[in-house]
Amino acid sequence: MRFVKKISTLKKIISHRKKKGDIIGFVPTMGYIHEGHLSLVRTARKQSQFVVVSIFVNPPQFGPKEDFRAYPRDLKRDMQLLKKEGVDVIFNPTNKEIYPEGYKTYVEVFDLSKILCGVSRPTHFQGVTTIVLKLFNIVQPDIAVFGKKDYQQTVIIRQMVKDLNLDVKIVIGKIVREKDGLAMSSRNTYLSNDERRRAVVLYRSLQWVKNAYKKGLRNPKKATQRINNMISKRGGRVNYVEAVDKDTLKPVRNLKKGTLIGLAVYFGKTRLIDNIII
Ligand code: PAF
Repeated sequence: MRFVKKISTLKKIISHRKKKGDIIGFVPTMGYIHEGHLSLVRTARKQSQFVVVSIFVNPPQFGPKEDFRAYPRDLKRDMQLLKKEGVDVIFNPTNKEIYPEGYKTYVEVFDLSKILCGVSRPTHFQGVTTIVLKLFNIVQPDIAVFGKKDYQQTVIIRQMVKDLNLDVKIVIGKIVREKDGLAMSSRNTYLSNDERRRAVVLYRSLQWVKNAYKKGLRNPKKATQRINNMISKRGGRVNYVEAVDKDTLKPVRNLKKGTLIGLAVYFGKTRLIDNIII
């Protein structure tokens, strides 16, 4: 496994591999690797011959009051975990390498980036699409794997790939959960023991809505209000709970197959997201 910090070095490695005919698989991450990331790496490995994982905590996707500085980092551990999975290259550029002085270009997928998480994080997705496009240009992957927990992100990236005619296949990996159902996230480490116990309500409320749908619930307002109540009772501060179409992310009039229930909730200062498709 090679550890690369320079764009020019990575480009040379990739061009060599491409000449050999290797399919390049790519998993972009912000590090603090957990089982969720590792399952994306396994998906990438199955579909490619050469796997690149980037570890870069991307400043533009954090708002001024968000957790860029506090975001958990443990490069040594990340490297060990990724080596075990047979990753070929870790790309870990500095901020300066990615955003040198005088940097001015940002990419935005209109509309989709201003709803759901984009309401309270208005510049977040612009930061995400900018870094993802830059990483695609650097890594030139044939396939790139993203996690389903960040569902809105996957829809926005697919839209960017389509709109900008990028030659990369986007693969979405499943949500990996802790034993009690909490979706794995690097941010889970922020939770106190008490918050961690309470946070299970996110998964439970999503399971509830899935079952309620099976039993005949069709009213999205009733569904989201009930979820809201369940979460509030457990001390979560709901940022949003919405029932939307899984492809367009537009609100639905009736719950139906393919409806996405997405939510963002604060426990203390920690903002967690989760979703389910019914
Ligand atoms: O999902 C993430 O970890 C990040 O948003 C990504 C895609 C690595 C871009 O920084």
